[in-house]
Amino acid sequence: MTAKRRYLMCRPTHFAVTYRINPWMDPTAPYDNALAVSQWENLRKVFLELGHTVDLIDPLPGLPDMVFAANGGTIIDGRALGVQFRDAERADEAPAYADWFRAAGFEVEMPKHTNEGEGDILLSGDLLLAGTGFRTSHASHAETQEFLRRPVITLQLVDPAYYHLDTALCVLDETNIAYLPSAFSPGSQSVLRQLFPNAIIATPEDAAVLGLNAVSDGRNVVLPVQAVQLAEALRKGGYHPIGVDVSELRKAGGGPKCCTLEVRS
Ligand code: ARG
Repeated sequence: MTAKRRYLMCRPTHFAVTYRINPWMDPTAPYDNALAVSQWENLRKVFLELGHTVDLIDPLPGLPDMVFAANGGTIIDGRALGVQFRDAERADEAPAYADWFRAAGFEVEMPKHTNEGEGDILLSGDLLLAGTGFRTSHASHAETQEFLRRPVITLQLVDPAYYHLDTALCVLDETNIAYLPSAFSPGSQSVLRQLFPNAIIATPEDAAVLGLNAVSDGRNVVLPVQAVQLAEALRKGGYHPIGVDVSELRKAGGGPKCCTLEVRS
């Protein structure tokens, strides 16, 4: 079932690659801020054309990764769990997002442990799939379950290239996902097979262009245009893939989903 979604995004006005906190980032390589902005504008336009609502949070100078709104929190049933970043470079984003949630009328709680929001916590039906291994700490999974009141399934990430859960797994609808098995520990792969026997298995090529960093409304799946095999698999599975080029943002290790926080009232 497609429903109209509400998303929060942050224009990449101050986007830059000036530090390295994941393997995709190379502070010595060139990047094009204007191109990042136009790619992001196009992503926003795609959501609007699908009939979704896009709220905007003001970008703050000195926070080049603030464009990755998925890392701002996890919002379910009008309750917003804020974030605590692993890296000092992103720390000041946490209160900025929490302020936005409060101003928008959400009850906000801040986590005591490292928690990078929807980068690692994804709602799948009634379950919260929660990644750990690189960013969000295992200790934070318990506080996430307590505050958001949904069962948390811990998934162990093992490949540094797929450092956030949303780089290795995409929630497609209430009952299905797409994912890259090798990004997960053997035990977590087994859990994913049990929970999602009909999952779409991504190829290493799809994952390498951050193809799994996609935003699904249950039918339309907005994914990096370079992820051609995944788009085909989605089409065969009855979904409607929509390719977008956000290659400039990929230089910071992000894709469409990283730029998009779902606001669930
Ligand atoms: N440079 C950012 C970081 O490493 C990218 C964040 C991507 N966000 C995401 N939801 N995967 O923190």
